[in-house]
Amino acid sequence: MLPVNSKILPNPQDVAAQACLIIIAEAAAAIRERKLFRIVLAGGSTPHRTYEMLARMATDWSAWEIFWSDERCLPADHAGRNSRMAHDVWLSRVAIPARLIHPIPAERGAKLAAAEYAANIRDKLPFDLVLLGMGIDGHTASLFATSGDHIAPVLAVHNAPKPPAERVSLNFQTLRTCRHQLVLVTGAEKSPAMFAWQQGANLPIACAARNDAFLLVDAEAGQSTNFMASQL
Ligand code: 6PG
Repeated sequence: MLPVNSKILPNPQDVAAQACLIIIAEAAAAIRERKLFRIVLAGGSTPHRTYEMLARMATDWSAWEIFWSDERCLPADHAGRNSRMAHDVWLSRVAIPARLIHPIPAERGAKLAAAEYAANIRDKLPFDLVLLGMGIDGHTASLFATSGDHIAPVLAVHNAPKPPAERVSLNFQTLRTCRHQLVLVTGAEKSPAMFAWQQGANLPIACAARNDAFLLVDAEAGQSTNFMASQL
C-alpha cells in the first residue's frame, strides 16, 4: 500500500516545487516550536531540483540542521557523493552554520563511518523531516534488501548492487524515527517499482516509508499506479 498522503503531479518540476513548499512549511513549524529544524537529506539525483529551489527560499537558515540518509564510500569531495550534490546546488549558497551540517564520514570506510554517525545522531532523534528517494528496484537510502542485519541504527553496507558497493545508511527504524517523511519519485523507469509498492511488495521503500509519509510522484513514475482521483 502507498502512504495516505500520496500525490501524483504532472512532471518532475512540479514534484520539486511541491516538495520545496512542504520542506519550508515543515521547517517553519519546527523552528516555531523547537527553534531548530532537523532534516535528513536523500541522495541520488531526484532531489537535485528540490535542493536548487531551496537555495532560493527565504527561511531562518541558522536554525536548520542537516543530516543524510546515506552516503557512498567515496572521497569527501568526490562528485558522486550525496553530500557533494547538496553542497554544490544548495548548502554552499545559504547561511546554515557549518557546525549544523553533518555529512556522513563515508570516506573513512563503511564500518567506522557507520559507528561514528550513529554516535553523532544518537541525541538528535527524532528528526523533524526525512527525505527519501526510490531506486528502480525499490531500494531507498542504501537499503537494498528488507532482510538481513538491520539492528544498528546506522549500517555499513558492503555489497550494494548500485555502485559503489561500499556505503553507509541509516537503517529502516532510524529513517522512520521522525515527525514526517517526504518521498520523491520521478521518471518512467520507476513505474514498475511504484506499481509493485502499491500492490504490497516487500520492498525496502515499503519498509522505510511510514503510512503517514508525504509521497510525491510524477506522471511518468505513477503511470502504472492507480492513484485515487483525489490524489491527482
Ligand atoms: C544513492 C541514493 C539512493 C537513491 C535512489 C534513487 O546513494 O544512490 O541514496 O537511495 O535515492 O537510488 O536514485 P535517483 O534519485 O538518482 O533515481
